Amino acid sequence: MGYPNQPHQRETTVLSRYFGDTEARTLAGWKKRGGYKALEKALGMAPADIVNVVKESGLRGRGGAGFPTGIKWSFMKPGDGKPHYLCCNADESEPGTFKDRELMRWTPHALVEGCAIGAYAIGAETAYVYIRGEFTEPLYWMDQAVKEAYAAGILGKNAMGTGKRIDVHVHKGAGAYICGEETALMESLEGRRGNPRIKPPFPAVSGVFGMPTTINNVETLIAAAPILMNGADWYKKMSLSNPKSTGTKLFSVCGNIQRPGTYEVVMGFPFKEFLYDLCGGPPHGRKFKAVIPGGASVPIQTLEEAEATLMDYEGFVAQGSMLGSGGVIVIDDAQSMVSVIARLARFFAHESCGQCTQCREGTAWTTKIMERIRDGEGTIEDMDTLLDIGEQMTGKTICVLSDSCAVPVVSGIKKFRGEFEALIQGRRFHPVIAAVA
Ligand SMILES: Cc1cc2nc3c(=O)[nH]c(=O)nc-3n(C[C@H](O)[C@H](O)[C@H](O)COP(=O)(O)O)c2cc1C
Repeated sequence: MGYPNQPHQRETTVLSRYFGDTEARTLAGWKKRGGYKALEKALGMAPADIVNVVKESGLRGRGGAGFPTGIKWSFMKPGDGKPHYLCCNADESEPGTFKDRELMRWTPHALVEGCAIGAYAIGAETAYVYIRGEFTEPLYWMDQAVKEAYAAGILGKNAMGTGKRIDVHVHKGAGAYICGEETALMESLEGRRGNPRIKPPFPAVSGVFGMPTTINNVETLIAAAPILMNGADWYKKMSLSNPKSTGTKLFSVCGNIQRPGTYEVVMGFPFKEFLYDLCGGPPHGRKFKAVIPGGASVPIQTLEEAEATLMDYEGFVAQGSMLGSGGVIVIDDAQSMVSVIARLARFFAHESCGQCTQCREGTAWTTKIMERIRDGEGTIEDMDTLLDIGEQMTGKTICVLSDSCAVPVVSGIKKFRGEFEALIQGRRFHPVIAAVA
């Protein structure tokens, strides 16, 4: 297929290098592995220069939307006389996504360092890590890392002896998917119910406590340190595909696959090789049928689309989906697509905050109709109704949770219509499972 920079198709571990290395969790172990050198370097630079390096590197937000990080940081205007805040989004509730959990479990100091660098770059003295409530183990390690960093003078009013103040606070959420949406996260952080806010004003103008705020994903912030240490060019050159998608990306892989787990590959890695070679292919005697490559909110790919994909922001779009959060959900030929989609719809209906009618009603009706079809009680007209509801749920609400529910349903009907029709016509789903030897 022609991937000139990569003679051997395998993982490139930049952020995940120390996964499984228990010593890297401690301050002493982290420093032995070169930890906090990037923060030391950053604190010796002008904030605007850090922003420029990150801009130049092409790093894009790893939380789902892929917004260029350097540009986001440059929205924070220095000298406005207001306190600035950094929020690290560690809510990670997108179905199929668990890479931030692994980053925090194994390399909590990498996140403390990333938060400190990000905070300094945007002129903030305070960073909050908003962490998913169920993440008890990552929470423990994050708390430990922050405590160690304060005790060693890395954080606090004289961070690394530079006279600059950097505080990092770890805040535990209460287990709501919606609190991963950046404005709901801020509401929750302020002690209110996690309802998304109407934008504008955008967080860079009015965020936490009404002050200029930047929100970044865990993986985004952790990527800043190696970029500062190795330079923007190094980061850009790792990409196999195109200059719009640079560096490496963590993918969480789950579902019907031999070796689920978290993998780090360079942008542009061929998805076919990823699924079959790195992740071991389908379970014994089965075949892949479909893939949801970027968490539950992105369109479902057929196997043909998945196998033709280069793993980067543009590559997934070119093959009918999106990179999203990098949560790869693999579905084999023993699964009913209708059941999978009905399950996803139920998740979104449960997690809707209920503020917007299209979302509150749309996710509930979608679930009801999907489950009716799944149970063999649907009609052919139900498919048109679902597509119609999907249209009403897209681009009309405060946040995109509503759109996210419509996406798997609409793409599922378009790409796997035959399975819907079979159930509606009374033919129940009979998976073909080869006998296990
Ligand atoms: C319903 C919903 C849930 C989200 N959940 C998360 C999440 O768990 N983690 C995350 O980083 N971003 C999540 N996002 C995206 C954030 O709103 C935001 O775009 C992201 O944190 C920005 O960081 P980045 O620029 O580093 O990607 C979610 C968005 C929506 C609409």
